[in-house]
Amino acid sequence: MLTGKKILIGVTGGIAAYKIPLLVRLLKKQEADVRVIMTPSAKDFVTPLTLSTLSGHPVLSEGFDRETGEWHSHVELGMWADLIVVAPASANTIAKMACGIADNYLLTVCLAAKCPIMFAPAMDLDMFKHQATQENIRRLVSRGCRLIAPASGELASGLCGEGRMEEPEKIFELIRDSFSVGKRFVGKKVLVTAGPTYEAIDPVRFIGNHSSGLMGIEIARVFVDQGADVTLVLGPSNIRPERGKIKVVPVTTAKEMYDAATVFFKEADIAVLSAAVADFRPSETAGQKIKKEEGRDDMILHLVKTDDILKTLGAMKTDRQYLVGFALETQNGLENAKKKLQSKNADMIVLNVMNEAGVGFKTNTNKISVISGDTVINFELKPKSEVARDVVDSVYNNIKNRL
Ligand code: CTP
Repeated sequence: MLTGKKILIGVTGGIAAYKIPLLVRLLKKQEADVRVIMTPSAKDFVTPLTLSTLSGHPVLSEGFDRETGEWHSHVELGMWADLIVVAPASANTIAKMACGIADNYLLTVCLAAKCPIMFAPAMDLDMFKHQATQENIRRLVSRGCRLIAPASGELASGLCGEGRMEEPEKIFELIRDSFSVGKRFVGKKVLVTAGPTYEAIDPVRFIGNHSSGLMGIEIARVFVDQGADVTLVLGPSNIRPERGKIKVVPVTTAKEMYDAATVFFKEADIAVLSAAVADFRPSETAGQKIKKEEGRDDMILHLVKTDDILKTLGAMKTDRQYLVGFALETQNGLENAKKKLQSKNADMIVLNVMNEAGVGFKTNTNKISVISGDTVINFELKPKSEVARDVVDSVYNNIKNRL
């Protein structure tokens, strides 16, 4: 049952809009509280009257209702929803969501929303395959929106191929599943570290690495969507977690990350350390910018080891805590990952293999193996949002008996 779940359906202009009344009906049968927003062009495909009758609420299209003089705040509606489902999601709406354009009511609500957003593309085969559409979809997915991939089949254009909106029964199942996993970690405290660290050489230079932070941010998003209370200790990153409920602790150096992680770990039930922490830092940071010296062609930096956060938490760990580390290897991946599992007293290691296409710091995809005890599970190359779900599912499967 979806009793009391607040689900906002955003309908955009596409022939698949005729299937949305069925989706609304399925959700209402499960006692969900459903509201519908239609973009102006959606009304050419299905009537607001049909959707308001089925949902039991007036369909919204604008913030200001000219007939009643009422103002519907997009911010309030965005905060009200537990889940937003944009279906069908036209190429136009996907492009605008990807760019943060807010020129209709649905788009303003999506921009103001703090809850997870699912979107079900529906368009012609060539529009779907177009590089612009594919890039926009990837942008949304990389921000944590959940793609309901279109199926292959007959399209309104008469062509046959990918672009047909997933059937309402299937969308309904995905919505229901998203709520049932939504409670898995209720009452559990999760610590995630993500991003690089910067170790200052002088006021303008530092030693860093190419980590974007995306993998750990995706993991934090999945945990929070599954009910956990998440603290994200995040090194310098341009990516925002987009989930208001994640407590973000911004840090810069390995020392700051160590200090924050050791404090939050004391309270944590689960910790996932995905950060790319510097192993060494300059022994001293110059107070002023280091100048070139006349006649000197080299410079030697003296580095000292940083504290190993994973190893420290592994030593602090109690029986009720579950500790996950990452391993980034360019050779002998499995062997080295197994060694890290032992030497750092972790419960699980997520191994990334760097030297494969589509894997690593600067891509939105990743390929992992998950190692716990004697078990190794190899996963396919996937978007990092899906890899994050695999990591969280693996944690859940290993500790579900004691949750
Ligand atoms: N890690 C950490 N603190 C450090 C270095 C690494 O907590 N100072 C953590 C990472 O967040 C990751 C795991 O240790 O979860 C493994 O990181 P990785 O860079 O693969 O290995 P290292 O332990 O640094 O060993 P090496 O560089 O020799 O492979």
